[in-house]
Amino acid sequence: SKTTVKTLLILGASGDLTGRLLLPGLAGLIATGRAPGLRLVGAGSDPWTPEQWQERVHGAFAAASKTADANGRNALAAVAGSTEYHQVDVTTDGPLADLLARLEGPIAIYFALPPHISQKACEVLRREQMPAGTRLVMEKPFGSGSESARELNQTLATLVPEDHIHRMDHFLGKATVLNILGLRFANRFLEPVWNRDHIEKVEIVFDEDLALEGRARYYDGAGALRDMIQSHLLHIMAFIAIDAPASINERDLRDAVATVLRASSIKAPYRDSTRRARYTAGTLGERTVPDYTAEEGVDPSRNTETLAEVRVDIDNWRWEGVPFLLRSGKALGRRRKEAVITFRPVPHLPTGFSGVDSPNQLRIGFGPDTLQLDVDVNGPGDIFALDRASLVAELYATDMLPYGEVLEGVLTGDPLLSVRGDTAEDCWRIIEPVLRAWERDTVPLEEYDAGGAGPADWPTAVVG
Ligand code: BG6
Repeated sequence: SKTTVKTLLILGASGDLTGRLLLPGLAGLIATGRAPGLRLVGAGSDPWTPEQWQERVHGAFAAASKTADANGRNALAAVAGSTEYHQVDVTTDGPLADLLARLEGPIAIYFALPPHISQKACEVLRREQMPAGTRLVMEKPFGSGSESARELNQTLATLVPEDHIHRMDHFLGKATVLNILGLRFANRFLEPVWNRDHIEKVEIVFDEDLALEGRARYYDGAGALRDMIQSHLLHIMAFIAIDAPASINERDLRDAVATVLRASSIKAPYRDSTRRARYTAGTLGERTVPDYTAEEGVDPSRNTETLAEVRVDIDNWRWEGVPFLLRSGKALGRRRKEAVITFRPVPHLPTGFSGVDSPNQLRIGFGPDTLQLDVDVNGPGDIFALDRASLVAELYATDMLPYGEVLEGVLTGDPLLSVRGDTAEDCWRIIEPVLRAWERDTVPLEEYDAGGAGPADWPTAVVG
């Protein structure tokens, strides 16, 4: 039963996430006519006046408004001009219920809140009457481990059906991540070689040239493994690894993702299958970055990693023995966001060829959005001397921000791009043994200079 949401209620409206990501994503939807007649209501703990809130919304809509056509501009102005703000403590009974009673349904409630507050707000909702057709949107991180994710899932299940729950992972709204599906399932030539017989390894790298950017309080409690690998990179991996679903609908696609993640694990000894490191002082572009441990809000005794790498094994017929190396880090000199699929060497290279003889690699870039296939061909000069050539496609990049893509599913009632409950738990199940091993210090915490390339001897280190 697909219903279009009439009202979007944001809990945590005065928080940073709402201003930085959620409202700009929403603006893209409104500006392109994809949220007709939507009413926006903010609820937060700060004592904001309605004018302060409207100003914030206007500000967050400004960029989209500049590029929108006249209809888009009007739609944005209408939403920003009519939005309400309510100061509400969402962890106590009463105020939230009063607010809900006054909203026109069906509504979507967006929990832009830290996990423990979300859990409390859900318990409050459990005792209240929610409008029929209510959809719940949960931010990441979804819980803080498989146990708390399970508890949160159990609470949510008492509130609304699973297909009315949207667990955000904005990577599922990135055009290049979704393009993996089109690339794999609309092209004949890939599938026959997309397996352990022909693929040697898969690397998924998300190196950022940003440091903490004022988020130390959150990040120091998370670290690279929880922040990036736990959901974002595991989902990219799943798209690369799944069997072709019968259709791209929420059930078939999410079943396929769940199946492949259930077969996935990081194997002991973790000293071999994982790496972790933390940056020391350095220079990022023009900026001087202090030692991670000297950043405001960091507790050095937590040993939080800012660069992590894990080898995931997918134990099924297609992938047995093929390493999936997932890596992400902060404050690196070079932004590198890509998946690299490395093929096995040819079974026999006829004698008589000279020059390079490197394995084929398919590179999927996540910003810049590119697709690149590296091949060995007869180059110029000696006709049997092999040269490396790259077939490169610039992918069509949408203007829509990933938050907008995922939110569209919330508004139209399609959880296709949201994380299903069992999968959210499974993502934690995959990384939890590593977190525990790291807590016991069984894997050394290495160091790298901010602005550098990271430790040189890691499997995913760039050579040359
Ligand atoms: C977020 C992480 O989920 O994703 C950030 O918390 C990270 O640490 C960000 O920088 C990366 O996503 P994007 O879309 O900004 O590349």
